[in-house]
Amino acid sequence: MPRRLLVTAALPYVNGHIHLGHLVEYIQTDIWVRFHKLVGNQAVYICADDTHGTATMIRARQEGRSEQAIIAEMAAAHQADFAGFGIAFDHYGSTDSESNRQLVHRIWAALRAAGHVVERDVTQLYDPKAGCFLADRFVKGTCPKCGAADQYGDSCDKCAATFSPTELKNAVSTLSGATPELRSAKHCFVRLEPFRAFLKEWTASGTLHPDMARWIANTFLVDELRDWDVSRPAPYFGFEIPDAPGNYFYVWVDAPVGYIASTIDWCAKNGDDWKRWWEGGGAEIHHFIGKDITYFHTLFWPAMLRTAGIDLPAKVHIHGFLTVNGEKMSKSKGTFIRARTYLDHLDPQYLRYFYASKLTARAEDLDLNLDEFAAKVNSDLVGKVANLASRTAKFVPRLAASYPDDGGLFARGAAEADAIAAAYEAGDFAEASRRIMALADRANEFVEQAAPWALKKDPAKAAELERACTVSLNLFRQLCVYLAPVLPGLAAEASHLLGAPIAAWGDAQRPLAGNAIAPFQHLVARVDPAKLQAMIAASAVESPAAAPAAAAPVDDGAALAAEPLAPVCTFEDFQKVDLRVARVVAAEEVPKAKKILKLTLSLGGDQQRTVFAGIKTAYKPEQLTGRLVVFVANLAPRQMSFGLSEGMVVAAGPGDAEIFVLSPDAGAKPGQRVH
Ligand code: MSP
Ligand code: ZN
Repeated sequence: MPRRLLVTAALPYVNGHIHLGHLVEYIQTDIWVRFHKLVGNQAVYICADDTHGTATMIRARQEGRSEQAIIAEMAAAHQADFAGFGIAFDHYGSTDSESNRQLVHRIWAALRAAGHVVERDVTQLYDPKAGCFLADRFVKGTCPKCGAADQYGDSCDKCAATFSPTELKNAVSTLSGATPELRSAKHCFVRLEPFRAFLKEWTASGTLHPDMARWIANTFLVDELRDWDVSRPAPYFGFEIPDAPGNYFYVWVDAPVGYIASTIDWCAKNGDDWKRWWEGGGAEIHHFIGKDITYFHTLFWPAMLRTAGIDLPAKVHIHGFLTVNGEKMSKSKGTFIRARTYLDHLDPQYLRYFYASKLTARAEDLDLNLDEFAAKVNSDLVGKVANLASRTAKFVPRLAASYPDDGGLFARGAAEADAIAAAYEAGDFAEASRRIMALADRANEFVEQAAPWALKKDPAKAAELERACTVSLNLFRQLCVYLAPVLPGLAAEASHLLGAPIAAWGDAQRPLAGNAIAPFQHLVARVDPAKLQAMIAASAVESPAAAPAAAAPVDDGAALAAEPLAPVCTFEDFQKVDLRVARVVAAEEVPKAKKILKLTLSLGGDQQRTVFAGIKTAYKPEQLTGRLVVFVANLAPRQMSFGLSEGMVVAAGPGDAEIFVLSPDAGAKPGQRVH
């Protein structure tokens, strides 16, 4: 019996363009859905734009047009971007739809009827000129702790203090420049505490990766759950609350309901009944989300669904965040790359493959190191996969009439089908890619040995050439079947080349024979470093316009150019270095040493280490005593003329006056490992 899978990716905010970070999610989900379709399950890929909230309202005001106009423009842009990357939604809806409004009403009525809604006054900053309440990010003022000017309403980027916007000094509204005043209004809250036992059980029942389940249990579910503020007083762009006129549902209420509403719209189009997917119809619901929105999907959402008698997700697949070259995407460095900018310069297949090769079932962050990206695409896609076809397809007009003896190569590849499928199913696309590339290595060894280019020169070896090409092209096709969820374009070209559609996972089980070979077309080109550079350059100039509210650009200089990145190392390599948080309990000068300070470090408890650190040119001993540092704890001890140094304190900078000792954020404890 084929499974019935309702699969969603998070609904992107209507206010921003799709960037490479988003694509981690939409590509990942697309691969998973395509895999399931290929193995014969019925999978439906649902998404929509997340349209409501203050940001949309403000933008409409600023641009002097309706929210609907913005929604229409962005929906088109989002869908064009997704299509460019081969992301094939079965339906792409909008949370601002009639089906969504009705369903939100139904769920709300259920929450009310169950007695989970309470009303309370909330005091917030109000902009009398703009006539609306101010979310934290629309208030600026002076930090109450350190006095830094121009800080946003909830935290200070100078001293890292966090506070409530009502504590800011000289606060102004960024909407109108007016001085905000305090106002109270009634808000509706949903009580979550009654759901705690249920949520504990549900999150631990296999719906989440065990690491995530543990994290949620230990961070969110330990203390009493606070009531959730689900309403916003007018003006607000959203659905009005039917039994609290003048109040609107907070965007995070109707956003996840949009998953169902979008399914309803898909069903209406296809003559299906949405209840078969969401209400006791035996379908499996799978959500794919980033770790930042875990809270909404694993606490609020299940509570809403349960109350309304709608099915709970079978699984919530949570992924980590994208970094580029090891750092958060940065507008000034040109690493905040929009989907469109990428498409203007590079082949989308590269990114699909690269992400697949990095994604596991765990919510670890994923790094797009651009050197590694180019190297991997060139070595795997071009060097190992496309190569099999490009080196053989032109030599013979058709495959041999029967599949020759290949020493068991094809059979060995066919036997991998279950292991590769299991990796896809588990969301461990990295494992699937590794297995596929291991097969590609075997296939390339075969081609190297058979050397069809040499056989081609000898007319007496025509039969041998035909056999070599038949094996090679069949192994190529087998790889294309396994890669089809990741690289549907490549699979389509392979289908065309051998006149046999790749339409099912089982197509990797039987070799082809006798098929005519179509004229060979180029499959994948090597990554052009110039285009990669051009993409970065284009991203760096585009961004200021894309981010009107961004802080003033920081001059980050050319440190990276002065000291280029070291070669890529594996995570295992990195793990060999045991970095620990340590406290400097004593720092003292060493007689006659111009650059050295002697540090006594505490690793917690009675664990102490002595380190001779070359940082005297930049630090006075008293600047160091008491502070936390990062310490290489398993470095082989080194005998120096002043004594034994038992490790190393890490620091950045070229030296002399420019040495910057690293320290963890407040709260870290001596002895904790740095991962
Ligand atoms: N609108 C909400 C989701 C509502 S779902 C009912 C939202 N939108 S978003 O546009 O900010 O993000 C959409 C998805 O992209 C989220 O799952 C988010 O985690 C993911 N990502 C956004 N930036 C990302 C990275 N830099 N890296 C990886 N995923 C990222 O959240
Ligand atoms: Zn401050």
